[in-house]
Amino acid sequence: MNDFNYKKLGLNSELLASALDSAKRNGNEYRKYLPFLLRGRTSKTKKFTPLEKLALVLYALPSTYENYKQKGIPDEIFFSTFSDIKIWCDNAYEQYGTAGLVNVRWLAKHLSMRIFRLGRLQFEFSRFAILPHARFKNVISCPYRLGEKCIALHIPQGEKLDSDACLRSFASANAFFAEYYPDYKYRCYNVITWLLDPELEQVLSKDRNIVKFGKTFTLLGRVPDNDMNERRIFGYKKDRANYSPKNALQRYILDRINKGKPLYSYNGFVSKDVFDR
Ligand SMILES: CC(C)(COP(=O)(O)OP(=O)(O)OC[C@H]1O[C@@H](n2cnc3c(N)ncnc32)[C@H](O)[C@@H]1OP(=O)(O)O)[C@@H](O)C(=O)NCCC(=O)NCCS
Repeated sequence: MNDFNYKKLGLNSELLASALDSAKRNGNEYRKYLPFLLRGRTSKTKKFTPLEKLALVLYALPSTYENYKQKGIPDEIFFSTFSDIKIWCDNAYEQYGTAGLVNVRWLAKHLSMRIFRLGRLQFEFSRFAILPHARFKNVISCPYRLGEKCIALHIPQGEKLDSDACLRSFASANAFFAEYYPDYKYRCYNVITWLLDPELEQVLSKDRNIVKFGKTFTLLGRVPDNDMNERRIFGYKKDRANYSPKNALQRYILDRINKGKPLYSYNGFVSKDVFDR
């Protein structure tokens, strides 16, 4: 732990110091959790406070760093992937007013090297998903099988969803998995997100990032996911009475909420061949 450059994570310096202090003091206990975390398992960590959960993740980080080194994965990808610790500490603070990490299960995917951030987007080893309510026609014409190996896509907050950056990200993912995981054969990227809502083309214009991103994918199905989608668009302090929409997207979402219409997450896919250079 001592040699590891935690400052590169971009965490608030007081929070980092408190969490590292906890990691040092409780190292003997945290050591027991390490083999589980490195396999992405967190069921035994529920008892910890958010600060302790952050400390636990920081405690595990040098082991994951070693695993990156053994595979030859560059430092840049490591620190880009783990920039998510700050994002989820910020979210915990916004949602619960608490310093530390709540969503340790998500970070365990990073620790166990299931998720990598490659440029703008995150990529996760996964199985092809088809949401309930997928249109029969879409399922029949889908070239991928439910449950086949694929890479799931995630879209972290914090930066614009610039189209060129996304294209570069997909191209990097093709190259990354071919170089570091050549035995992992997959044919497509699969995503579940509100960003694929086809109505957004009318709400925003065709040239907006979200609409262009949505058009990258073939739609399969959708599922109501009100809480998550509302949080993504209005933030964590849910107080509908005081929502004052600042743009067309927020007006559209608030209108749906007021009319009792669901906020959907959509499921789509794109072939990896699209991004081969
Ligand atoms: C994905 C994301 C980066 C896209 O943002 P973007 O690049 O600004 O998207 P666009 O340029 O197409 O935005 C069009 C309009 O919608 C607004 N908008 C975009 N995302 C918004 C959001 N999450 N909340 C509120 N307004 C948003 C933009 O400000 C812009 O408004 P304007 O016309 O007044 O300038 C942004 O939505 C985000 O950070 N979301 C959080 C992460 C997320 O939702 N991930 C998917 C999880 S399933």
